[in-house]
Amino acid sequence: MGRDFSTIGVVGLGTMGAGIAEVFARQGYAVVGVEQNEESLERGRQHLENSTGRAVERGKLSAEDQRALMERVTLTTDVAGLAEADLVVEAIVESLGAKQDVMRAVDAVVKPETVLATNTSSLSVTEISTASSSPGRVIGVHFFNPAPVQALVEVVRTVVTAPDVLEDVTELLTSIGKAPVVAGDKAGFIANTLLFGYLNHAVTMYEGHYATREDIDAAMRFGCGYPMGPLALLDLIGLDTAYEILDTMYRQGRDRLHAPAPILKQMVTAGLLGRKTGRGFYTYDGPDSPTVV
Ligand code: NAI
Repeated sequence: MGRDFSTIGVVGLGTMGAGIAEVFARQGYAVVGVEQNEESLERGRQHLENSTGRAVERGKLSAEDQRALMERVTLTTDVAGLAEADLVVEAIVESLGAKQDVMRAVDAVVKPETVLATNTSSLSVTEISTASSSPGRVIGVHFFNPAPVQALVEVVRTVVTAPDVLEDVTELLTSIGKAPVVAGDKAGFIANTLLFGYLNHAVTMYEGHYATREDIDAAMRFGCGYPMGPLALLDLIGLDTAYEILDTMYRQGRDRLHAPAPILKQMVTAGLLGRKTGRGFYTYDGPDSPTVV
């Protein structure tokens, strides 16, 4: 590894940021967590304490190690706190403008060799990188939720990401027990591109009355060994979220596999969002099955 990573900055301590901070703090790295205000900072601290507390309860971490872990984490609302960071992972809300603002602010306070990473799921890493004075040091690191549990990290290289940045980040992730894979800068990267193409195809099959929802799901569970069928999985993800993801991928990649099946939009409009509203492809709160086609 060319770079010596010792301090990791994380901007945004929500679901993903708090998990990413935990991943590095568990591995002995000093972590600086940055939030936009005191209230969110406190929520981030709670998130970290609860998550590591659960690890203690399950016997995966000693109480002493949890204390030491929390001591390695410095929390602040001031980006200047990132001055010593060797890698900064941005995990704020999924908004291009907000991410570019953070990128600009972080770029101004860190060392020239510091790597700037974004955890974006669907925005263009290239566009985010244009807010840095040196886009060559910008890279995507797409962790999966929950970050402390899921091994996969999709490392996203833009056309200008420096080769040594890609190499160092990949090595760092491997050294902390993650499974990095490298992909180009296109919404969906590897896993979601393939997964959502498949989920969308299942919806098309259902929409065309080719097979029942139960049989579509059963085929994938009992024939392909998937833990869940595609329609049940869509209900879990949320049909609104799935629609947005597909639509974004379709607009960026122009692959018709990702053109959202029309019924998805209709179900979202009708409020059938899946488990969170009690009804999607299946009904979760009563004996009746939904009539959606
Ligand atoms: P979240 O809404 O839970 O957390 C975002 C956090 O960023 C909030 O705590 C908010 O206070 C903070 N924030 C917003 N603006 C800020 C600023 N200017 N400076 C510092 N902090 C700021 O969002 P979540 O789910 O953690 O997602 C974060 C990023 O990770 C997004 O880009 C999302 O697309 C990506 N992602 C999300 C996954 C998920 O399953 N939730 C999975 C993989 C990536």
